[in-house]
Amino acid sequence: MARTHVDEIIAAIDIGTTKICVLIARKLHDESIEVIGIGKSPSEGLHKGVVVDIARTVRSIRAAVSEAELMAGMKITSATIGIAGGHISSVNSHGVIPVKRTDVSATDMENVLAAARAIPVPEGQEILHVLPQYFVIDRREKVHDPRGMHGVRLEVQAHIIMGATAAVQDLVTCCEKAGILVDDVVLEQIASAYAVLSDDEKELGVGVLDIGGGTSDFAVYQNGSIRHTMVLPVAGNHFTNDLAIGLRTTIADAERIKKEYGLACMGALKRNELIEVAKVQGGNARDVVESADIISILEPRAREVLALVRDEVLEHHLHSYIRTGIVLTGGGALLRGMQLLAEDIFDVPIRIGHPRIEFSLPESLDNPMYATSYGLLLHKVNKEHDAHMQSIDAPLVKRVFETMKSWVMDFF
Ligand SMILES: Nc1ncnc2c1ncn2[C@@H]1O[C@H](COP(=O)(O)OP(=O)(O)OP(=O)(O)O)[C@@H](O)[C@H]1O
Ligand SMILES: [Mg+2]
Repeated sequence: MARTHVDEIIAAIDIGTTKICVLIARKLHDESIEVIGIGKSPSEGLHKGVVVDIARTVRSIRAAVSEAELMAGMKITSATIGIAGGHISSVNSHGVIPVKRTDVSATDMENVLAAARAIPVPEGQEILHVLPQYFVIDRREKVHDPRGMHGVRLEVQAHIIMGATAAVQDLVTCCEKAGILVDDVVLEQIASAYAVLSDDEKELGVGVLDIGGGTSDFAVYQNGSIRHTMVLPVAGNHFTNDLAIGLRTTIADAERIKKEYGLACMGALKRNELIEVAKVQGGNARDVVESADIISILEPRAREVLALVRDEVLEHHLHSYIRTGIVLTGGGALLRGMQLLAEDIFDVPIRIGHPRIEFSLPESLDNPMYATSYGLLLHKVNKEHDAHMQSIDAPLVKRVFETMKSWVMDFF
């Protein structure tokens, strides 16, 4: 049966702390995508990845949606959205069941994942993703897809991601008020990973760190599936605030200076310059500072973010998983010297991840800031084909998740 025009259009909304980005894309026959609409607007109602002002967030979403719709020449009614924030936590879990007949059925798969997700969930939290890492059928380890295989005992190792129910609901409400139904809620670093990591990197082992404005989101992949996730409530805005306080200047000027002259480490400084800085009281009053003064403010914050991630790697014994290195993405990865500093702190190869453009991505999206939004689109396209796709189960937002329910059934 021929697909309807509407079926071929997908949309994603990255509701970031600093910007909202809406992408509308056409799904092509070979499952690649062509972006046909881009809308961006400054994000005004979020703090550290969490909605703090619904009205302002709705306004920002509407503005970005309208811009994207205008460019695409069509309206959208639903979208995949990303989620982050300090409320996100994750654990690895294990489930085991006897196989009902002699070969593994869809029901066995459902049951073993249900066994893995039977963990104590703190009050006010809910499970967002149950990500199968691998299955074990009798003694056959690391099975990707055990359906149809023979055995008597089925085990699964899964990564479970939880988030605050209220935070998820607030995001969904904002989208609904902006006229968009949410058809998937995806952890932001999982989306970013889609956009910036290669399949080989995910197979051999890699980390991805999305340094945004409000949160730094980390994920580790190996054997093609997710091993670990973490959300840190420290990111680019903290660098700007540190500069504003340290230089006694305005937030706007601190942001400008960070982008134009900022460096994450003294080792990356080639020439010490004199830089004019607006005084915090406004007007035409100016101070003059040296590049080295700016770096001495930014470097401790850059070290803090990277050291927190390194501590997580050490604490959870993740070093053997990040064999191919770590990919830095998100706008915070654009701070010059970040790669050098990260190489020093992690002692593994580091690269800056731009969205991997498969088909006619407009040049304006070739920037780490758009890894999440482009990744949300890729997530949407790939989910039916990925044997390691997450099953998502957020009871609270189920009413808007009709499409999600159907693909969970497809997966099994
Ligand atoms: N050239 C640059 N140098 C340094 N920092 C930069 C540069 N460009 C952008 N940034 C910083 O990147 C951050 C925004 O990144 P991004 O757009 O990925 O965040 P976000 O998605 O809005 O936020 P979050 O993911 O935390 O909700 C801001 O703090 C901004 O100052
Ligand atoms: Mg972001």
